[in-house]
Amino acid sequence: MRPSGGVLTMRNPFDHRLRNLDMRSHYCGEICEDHLDHTVTLCGWVHRRRDHGGIIFIDLRDRAGLVQVVVDPDTEEAFAAADRARNEYVLRITGRVRHRPDGTENPDLHSGRVEVLAREVEVLNTAKTPPFQLDEHEHVGEDVRLRHRYIDLRRPEMQQRLQLRARVTSAIRRHLEDEGFLDIETPMLTRATPEGARDYLVPSRTHTGRFFALPQSPQLFKQLLMMAGFDRYYQIVRCFRDEDLRADRQPEFTQLDMEAAFVDEEAVMGVTERMLRHLFRAVLDVELPDPFPRMPYAEAMHRFGSDKPDLRIPLELVEVADLVADVDFKVFSGPAQDPRGRVAALCVPGGGELTRKQIDDYTDYVGRYGAKGLAYIKVNDPSKGVEGLQSPIVKFLTETAVEGILQRTGASAGDLIFFGADRASVVNDALGALRVRIGHDLGMVDSAWRPLWVVDFPMFEYDEKDGRLYSLHHPFTAPQTTDPKALREQSAEQLLSRAYDVVLNGVELGGGSVRIHDPAVQQAVFGLLGIDETEARSKFGFLLDALDYGCPPHGGIAFGMDRLVMLMAGANSIREVMAFPKTQTATCMLTEAPAEVGEAQLRELGIRLRRVGGAE
Ligand code: AMO
Ligand code: AMP
Repeated sequence: MRPSGGVLTMRNPFDHRLRNLDMRSHYCGEICEDHLDHTVTLCGWVHRRRDHGGIIFIDLRDRAGLVQVVVDPDTEEAFAAADRARNEYVLRITGRVRHRPDGTENPDLHSGRVEVLAREVEVLNTAKTPPFQLDEHEHVGEDVRLRHRYIDLRRPEMQQRLQLRARVTSAIRRHLEDEGFLDIETPMLTRATPEGARDYLVPSRTHTGRFFALPQSPQLFKQLLMMAGFDRYYQIVRCFRDEDLRADRQPEFTQLDMEAAFVDEEAVMGVTERMLRHLFRAVLDVELPDPFPRMPYAEAMHRFGSDKPDLRIPLELVEVADLVADVDFKVFSGPAQDPRGRVAALCVPGGGELTRKQIDDYTDYVGRYGAKGLAYIKVNDPSKGVEGLQSPIVKFLTETAVEGILQRTGASAGDLIFFGADRASVVNDALGALRVRIGHDLGMVDSAWRPLWVVDFPMFEYDEKDGRLYSLHHPFTAPQTTDPKALREQSAEQLLSRAYDVVLNGVELGGGSVRIHDPAVQQAVFGLLGIDETEARSKFGFLLDALDYGCPPHGGIAFGMDRLVMLMAGANSIREVMAFPKTQTATCMLTEAPAEVGEAQLRELGIRLRRVGGAE
């Protein structure tokens, strides 16, 4: 469940008149009792047309909403035009606003107590029968909606979402400008990143065989702007990442990108919180907590199995490895004794009601995250000890282990305890996701806004496949210790960074860090990442040079604008808050991009295509 609010409680931005700007006097959706007896001229699309034995009713729609227009046969010309009108025709009507007859009011509409008695009806344009009726969009696939996005966007819900989005960006700009931030643009044609598997490349005609890359983020440019003395920068900027897509990921998305000089993490987090609180207050009338709570990464993983915990769900993971380290059940004792393993329990209050089928479904669900099974204990009557339990695994556990588990999870009669035992990363992913899924399935999601800072991230993540370290954030993030000696000596996996993520209701909204401004520290971090000096120079020479010419301490953050608006609009996917999103397979249904290009264009770029499986 989403918190109440969202688009429905937005303030109405149409309380002004259209000042002779166009062919009409008012927006359809703004007409209300204030306009009784006024003559108004409205333009819009026919949302619905009903012929009631000689009287024609038209719901006329524009970006502000709907109004009911009544056309009487007495006004002959108007009636003839209304009679021709079909869904999605574009009309201009002039008429008088009057009360709807008693009993025919529509409380769901802003204009629901009134109607417009038309005097003139002009068909400005006709329309073919649309590929789907606007209020039946759910019956057609998303592909059809995206192919005809200009029709899909006419739906009042989409109109409201994009209008909300515009108000969000406008409120953010005003707030940041008040705090002294400058809007500065950075290049869209730039250099491929070192681990640029996810770069979108653009061939250069003037430098055949060379490629630009579209930016995955303006990270390095914003750091250079700090070195250039701009002090406080922001940009609402498009970023490009050729990665696997999900409901909250698009290949082309928008960041609110910020950076400031002479600041530490407290300053960046402070600006961010003020901005978010202002935004939620101004746009949704919602008060976010002050300050936002903070949680170290290790605690988030430990309690929620996730670095973006949804705090609205009152379920937590509990460590039980020490209790099962010596049992005969290898599934548990193996990971319990492995330093990279984890055995955790998730107690679901009232979970005893879950059916066998539901438990099997959850077992399949955690399987998607790599879990090899989902052991459980149903707690019928804890006072009867093992007798009071129902479980496929109790027989493998010692009585002390079972007692310890019941005590630590606080399980009582009617509860069910799930278990995950595997590598820690698998247990976290599986039980972390199960926690959220069960929270939703069992209606345990509190309707509130629960922002959270996650802090004290590790600097690096060890990849077992490649046998090397990767930056958890990016290689320009400052470590908590800046002593170059400690950076070389400390076990790199233990190092913590000065990074922070802001999470809202289980969604990673934004992330940032204090950056490295000391060339020696930057070299040391490259060293730990296995990037030697020659490689570092060839890839980031410009950044290393800039660090040598008077770089101030600096830090920043970037937000996923699409995700922010998605949450504020109560939408389920960022595609619902983007005008022209791409599909799950990163194509644009409307323009059919990406598309093939002609041979001549390729020749000019010096590109010859290799046919998959072909000889060319
Ligand atoms: P990061 O990679 O965490 O940080 O991105 C910042 C935020 O951008 C959003 N985001 C996305 N939204 C939609 N589709 C995507 N494919 C996508 N990828 C990321 C997320 C994320 O939190 N330069 C750093 C920030 C910094 O250090 O200042 C950066 O880009 O909401
Ligand atoms: P098995 O001995 O594999 O039949 O498993 C016995 C029980 O333990 C079943 O309920 C499995 O779902 C569960 N199980 C198996 N592997 C795991 C695991 N890695 N984590 C949690 N439960 C598991």
